[in-house]
Amino acid sequence: MNFLNKKKILLIICGGIAAYKSLEIIRLLKKKGAFVKTILTRNAKKFVTPLSVVSLSQEKVYSDLFDYKNESEMDHISLSRWSDLLLIAPATANTISKLSYGLADDLAATVTLASNKQVFLAPAMNVRMWEHQSNKDNIKKLKSFGYKLIGPNIGDMACGEYGEGKMSEPSEILNLLEDHFKGLTNLKKKRALVTAGPTQEFLDPVRFITNRSSGKQGYEIANSLNKNGFDTTLISGPSSQIADDGINLIKVRTVEDMFRETISNLPVDVAVFSAAVGDWKIKKYSKDKIKKTDNIVINLEKNIDILNNISNHNSLRPKLVIGFAAETENIHSNAKKKLLDKNCDWIIANDVSDEKIGFESNENAVSIFYKNEEKEDIKKTTKAHLANQIVDRILNHLN
Ligand code: CTP
Repeated sequence: MNFLNKKKILLIICGGIAAYKSLEIIRLLKKKGAFVKTILTRNAKKFVTPLSVVSLSQEKVYSDLFDYKNESEMDHISLSRWSDLLLIAPATANTISKLSYGLADDLAATVTLASNKQVFLAPAMNVRMWEHQSNKDNIKKLKSFGYKLIGPNIGDMACGEYGEGKMSEPSEILNLLEDHFKGLTNLKKKRALVTAGPTQEFLDPVRFITNRSSGKQGYEIANSLNKNGFDTTLISGPSSQIADDGINLIKVRTVEDMFRETISNLPVDVAVFSAAVGDWKIKKYSKDKIKKTDNIVINLEKNIDILNNISNHNSLRPKLVIGFAAETENIHSNAKKKLLDKNCDWIIANDVSDEKIGFESNENAVSIFYKNEEKEDIKKTTKAHLANQIVDRILNHLN
């Protein structure tokens, strides 16, 4: 089966001697039936001509940011939305550095920054540039964004030196892109469900009890699952986070709603319960607004435990059940207890007493407790990067 047929590839060619190989990439992609739109950076035009790209791709070439003709036909956002995948080949040290800092000073960098698709990079540069610490740091950062690297290879370079930094061959690049789409096709059959955010329990029509969860970590996990080809449902309590296109987002408020929606979206292959579910609900809801008095006694009763219910379900238990444990003390013993009590396969524990990694923050550090007694610590990093690391482990487990 040809997995590149009818796929939309946005190819960004940067200014390096390896740019000539990108013409071969276009030729091979077209042969496979893919649609190829190309962005040439200013320097790339010194190595390959727009005319050769147009002739091979049968599409117009994009180059300038805010060019009135481009923007009226297809602006920089539509260009990134159009594609199924972004390939930057050759990716020069300059572009790699710009992307790692989020610069958006030309069309190539802006489109990449605005993209919500998988980005592949095929670096090409001199061996000393490749090995320079600043380039290494940039590459590490790009990997943490979820960008995938192709090569570079080791060999003789155009500059006469020898070492790592040669752009991968077009046929190698094509094989990897094809593997990527093949993986997505197989994974599309796999389904994921994520719960995220806080819940609200209403006292009367205007007041409710909630918690400090922002939903960031759960949304990042859902976005990463979606990017990796899972058919993803995200059941979210009130949150200002944005779910990527393609995610089946279901917004709820109360625990009862979250439970009902979770059950009705099963079966799935993997379920990640990251929501900060309210443990109690109001015993007696008042349909009229409660008038102000000096004192008020609120009676609470226990809510249903969504995770516990699903992980012990006879017929609907997902193959992989992952719970979270938000703790302020005795993290390890509490997490281990939750792993057993809630019949999970993994528990991801974090210390919410630390303001820098707890609720509402952009960073997180966790320990994953596996059913087989093993434990793995993941160092403090952005919630987006952490989500990618968790999803990598999910992929390994399911494969
Ligand atoms: N959870 C759930 N339904 C609940 C309570 C918790 O699905 N009613 C899930 C959470 O999404 C999380 C895990 O259970 O994956 C642990 O949640 P946590 O709040 O850490 O633990 P609790 O069970 O509420 O226990 P405690 O508050 O006493 O620590």
